[in-house]
Amino acid sequence: MQIAFLGAGQVGGALAVALVRAGHAVTVGARDAASKSVRELVARERSIAVATPEAAVQAAEVVFLATPFAAVTEALAPLASQLAGKILVDCTNPVGAGLTHGLKSERSGSEVVQAAAPGARVVKAFTIYGFENFERAPAAVGIVRPGMFFCGNDAAAKSTVATLLTELGWDPVDVGGLAQALHLEHMTLLWIRMVRVGGASAHTVWSRLPTRV
Ligand SMILES: NC(=O)c1ccc[n+]([C@@H]2O[C@H](COP(=O)([O-])OP(=O)(O)OC[C@H]3O[C@@H](n4cnc5c(N)ncnc54)[C@H](OP(=O)(O)O)[C@@H]3O)[C@@H](O)[C@H]2O)c1
Repeated sequence: MQIAFLGAGQVGGALAVALVRAGHAVTVGARDAASKSVRELVARERSIAVATPEAAVQAAEVVFLATPFAAVTEALAPLASQLAGKILVDCTNPVGAGLTHGLKSERSGSEVVQAAAPGARVVKAFTIYGFENFERAPAAVGIVRPGMFFCGNDAAAKSTVATLLTELGWDPVDVGGLAQALHLEHMTLLWIRMVRVGGASAHTVWSRLPTRV
């Protein structure tokens, strides 16, 4: 699958490497091809291509958004027409002062993403844990895989993202429509407070126990 990244830092870089290793063709859509994040990523994984954001998105079937939340509108607005109809995986989190919700819990960050790219099929995924878990998912314990909660309004887009999640070692846990993004963003805050403040392992993840039939 042709995959583009907008944002190639801790999250984008880790996921780009994971997806290349899973056999996908990854291109970073870079505003500055010489930036530290882009140079470090390409040095780490030479098969990752670099293009302008416009060219990368145009050629992609799936686009990962992994910029700081504050940069979402600036990054997406010029690409709105190229993003129409594409799957846009929103990896961003609006985190505010004092580890509160950056939009005061009045709307989700994913709604801001959707507003900046109205034609895109937005799926929020790869947000509820730290980047340390994204290049290599935590190992399964028996048949219980680490869970990745995700949401979106487009069933086909979610199915594609679920396939990518499975390939990367996650149990894809579909929690519903994009309105659920606000609650995933609160799960992120819970994780950050547990790990970055409370000192729990950075590999702390949640799992869904297999249901009895
Ligand atoms: N860090 C985590 O553990 C974690 C976990 C889950 C989700 N998230 C979320 O993931 C997103 C990325 O976090 P990160 O830790 O990967 O950040 P990061 O390491 O600072 O990387 C940010 C990337 O976005 C690019 N960027 C910055 N401003 C941009 C703009 N205006 N237009 C286009 N690209 C821009 C940067 O490019 P340059 O190199 O050119 O500046 C860099 O490649 C954030 O929204 C964060 O909340 C983070």
